[in-house]
Amino acid sequence: MTDWKIRRAPAIHAEITVPGDKSISHRSIMLAALANGSAQITGFLPSEDCLSTMKAFQQLGVEIERLDDTTLIVHGKRGNLTPPAEAIDCGNSGTTMRLMCGILASQPFRSRLIGDASLSKRPMKRVIDPLTQMGARITAEGENGRPPLVIEGGSLQGIAYTSPVASAQVKSAILLAGLFGKGSTSVTEPEQSRDHTERMLAWHVVRPRKIGLTVTLLGGQHLESRDFEVPGDISSAAFWLVAAAAMPGSHLLIKNVGLNPTRTGILAVLIRMGAQVNEIIESTDGEPRGSVEIYGVELKATTIGGKEIPNVIDELPILAVAAALAKGRTIIKDAKELRVKETDRIAAIAKNLRAFGVDVLETEDGMEIEGGGKYHGAEVESFGDHRIAMSCAVLGMFSDGHTVVRDTECVNTSYPGFYEQLLRFVKPSKSND
Ligand code: S3P
Repeated sequence: MTDWKIRRAPAIHAEITVPGDKSISHRSIMLAALANGSAQITGFLPSEDCLSTMKAFQQLGVEIERLDDTTLIVHGKRGNLTPPAEAIDCGNSGTTMRLMCGILASQPFRSRLIGDASLSKRPMKRVIDPLTQMGARITAEGENGRPPLVIEGGSLQGIAYTSPVASAQVKSAILLAGLFGKGSTSVTEPEQSRDHTERMLAWHVVRPRKIGLTVTLLGGQHLESRDFEVPGDISSAAFWLVAAAAMPGSHLLIKNVGLNPTRTGILAVLIRMGAQVNEIIESTDGEPRGSVEIYGVELKATTIGGKEIPNVIDELPILAVAAALAKGRTIIKDAKELRVKETDRIAAIAKNLRAFGVDVLETEDGMEIEGGGKYHGAEVESFGDHRIAMSCAVLGMFSDGHTVVRDTECVNTSYPGFYEQLLRFVKPSKSND
């Protein structure tokens, strides 16, 4: 088990990049593997989650060459995958498991998807139900629709599905199944979730139609192989954006980061909290990308809720830290999805923030945080959740004494190199050696 030791950091003055976007890296492999030829992916995130997706496709007969850590050549199989010899291990990755369900539902063979202890507790009925309506045969071996999942692939029929949750994983699983189904498939979501699948399908010359909150796709279309460049992950950038925003006098420039408007809610929240933010979109090819520049100030409290939630869902742990550092009472609501992430993030954040001396009230669908206090270093657990570990590490940069974050291996699922970057901001001490 690897623990991190963190101490108070000085104001940040830096220009950095962050590793590739996790959501986009998964999809870049999936779409390239289903397409009609070979394509190069650059900027790929070589994290455990994305490597689970890569290995899954290798098991399904897709040839993938790794030119280096972040550059892959994927030889697409035109949608004709081969039966896997063994169970496909999705590790900790909900995106791998849920999107693979959609892809495998139409393949004429049986496959079994397994995951680690955390993934095995996560709800899968949200994808099983709509895919079953399309004609898929998916059996959950765990209780109440939990993994492992056994998929007996076969022919699918398009559906018009209204999703009860604003989930890009659910939407994407249905759209990917619909690509191989008869007729048209549409998904209506209660709020806009991230739209990477739609944009990346369009990049591969399959154009879904979007009207309001409904996305429609005609089955039987073929994906064209096209090289793709994955931008940096704004969800990884989020840790440093908050660190810089909350330190008066800081200036941070993050280059080549994804700026898809369904993901940049964190910038809007930080602006409301008083931070000065410049967002410069440099390209909209495939996925919007560019630079974000942020200046630190004394942050002030805000309310985060409603339709903004899907846009900041992965950033809520680090926004809770921003709230702890902001003057006043911040309210986070309408976020009960946090309870079914890699861990129950509401419970985990509340417990860990309290360990630093933050006044937190846990509610059913969020939390209320009284910010602006003086905090002391704490010893906290990651709960096996990468975003909990990284968020607490950032709070350690603002706390007296030493902070210890225990059990941090989970960070390799999304941000290999996070701690090394943090140490560059904090400056190494003996205890960090
Ligand atoms: C993701 C969608 C979100 C997000 C997850 C990645 C994706 O999950 O929290 O980290 O890549 O589609 P939900 O679809 O469950 O909201």
